[in-house]
Amino acid sequence: MAAAVVPDEPGQPPKLAQDVLASKAPKVVAADQVVNPFEVSGGVDEAGKALAIDFDKIVRDFGATPMSPEILQRFERVTGKRPHRLMRRGMVSSHRDLDKMLDRYEKGEPFYLYTGRGPSSDSMHVGHAMPFELTRFLQEAFNCPLVIMLTDDEKFMHSEKITIEDAKRFTVENAKDIIAMGFDPQKTFIFSDFEFVGGAFYENICMIAKHITINQIKGTFGFDDSTNIGKFHFPATQSATAYATSFPHIFGPDKTKVRTIPCLIPCAIDQDPYFRQCRDRAEKMKHKKPALLHMIFLPALQGPGSKMSASVSTSAIFLSDKPNEVKNKINRYAFSGGQDTAEKQKELGGRTAVDVPYQYLTFFLEDDDELARIKDDYESGRMMTGEIKKICIQYVQDFVAEFQERRKKVDESVRADFFARKPLLFQGKTAEEVL
Ligand code: TRP
Repeated sequence: MAAAVVPDEPGQPPKLAQDVLASKAPKVVAADQVVNPFEVSGGVDEAGKALAIDFDKIVRDFGATPMSPEILQRFERVTGKRPHRLMRRGMVSSHRDLDKMLDRYEKGEPFYLYTGRGPSSDSMHVGHAMPFELTRFLQEAFNCPLVIMLTDDEKFMHSEKITIEDAKRFTVENAKDIIAMGFDPQKTFIFSDFEFVGGAFYENICMIAKHITINQIKGTFGFDDSTNIGKFHFPATQSATAYATSFPHIFGPDKTKVRTIPCLIPCAIDQDPYFRQCRDRAEKMKHKKPALLHMIFLPALQGPGSKMSASVSTSAIFLSDKPNEVKNKINRYAFSGGQDTAEKQKELGGRTAVDVPYQYLTFFLEDDDELARIKDDYESGRMMTGEIKKICIQYVQDFVAEFQERRKKVDESVRADFFARKPLLFQGKTAEEVL
């Protein structure tokens, strides 16, 4: 794709930076939105312009239940915790069966949380951190076991470049980043597929695999006859983690009882196809259907048409970035919804719906009143583009700095503790005590 011949627009990131992302996208004139575990794009219009991802459409297409004020109120009533800002502000866009998990919590019936990551790079970015931030909060709110799956096998089978050694190294490094999000070692089990497949977990993988046909996988994931068979088989592995019987060291060996323990999966919405597969079969296999909480993506610096990408360094803020890097990236690359001149800004105000600094504040700034004040000042033209960028930089820098403080304390022995096979407690009790 031709690099910038058009001069940069005031208030906007240099064209060159946008072209880097655009050059990674398939070259088509007009395309529909695509959201699946392997591709996320809002599509492009006839002029080749990237379109914002339409999350409402995804929720409708997937047939998920949109989050509602009622279910958030119920969450607060039942857990005694104010919903996390990611829940209050709609970043948790939809769910499946959250109400059933709240019923169980009320009755003291056990369930566990399950989330994961495909370790595809050494460094994670702040977008990767968001589902883990939500999960950390949920672990605290529900006081329950959490299982974190690192799908090094998936990343190996889905990449041309990543070797088994690479994937295993990413697993170790990513696990430390994930631990530094603040999980409770008494209630968290983290594992690598390469290391953990075997025993009861592998029995469940095979049982699930036996129930899935090639046609179903083709339909759900868009694979064809030239796709390697590892990709066809992998969905069974990701699903097996949703069955409590995969983890006798956590829940005990009594399969008949342990089968009745469901899980709640907080995940980015692109993971839903995996779990639709799993939910469709769970009851036939005498297991509980997993419940889900879907999150939308933190937008790339270039705007709401794509998510941050670890392989496009100008699209993302990394958890390892220095304060100066955070500042420069936001100043240089963050798409602005502000007007071109101060005069116009005063007259027309900024457009928060597309303004990346404002969007980031909705993810990182906890105080609702302050966020409302900023929105009002910016939209009414009292606040300039430079000012909102400055505020955004401060909050993102704080988030990254606090993360880095915790990350320093995560050494090999801390990591080993999270990977250890030990029982985990639900509201302070073992599974045997509550079942
Ligand atoms: N497939 C996911 C990825 O590539 C990793 C994953 C496995 C996951 N299990 C999960 C993510 C459960 C969220 C919830 O990142």
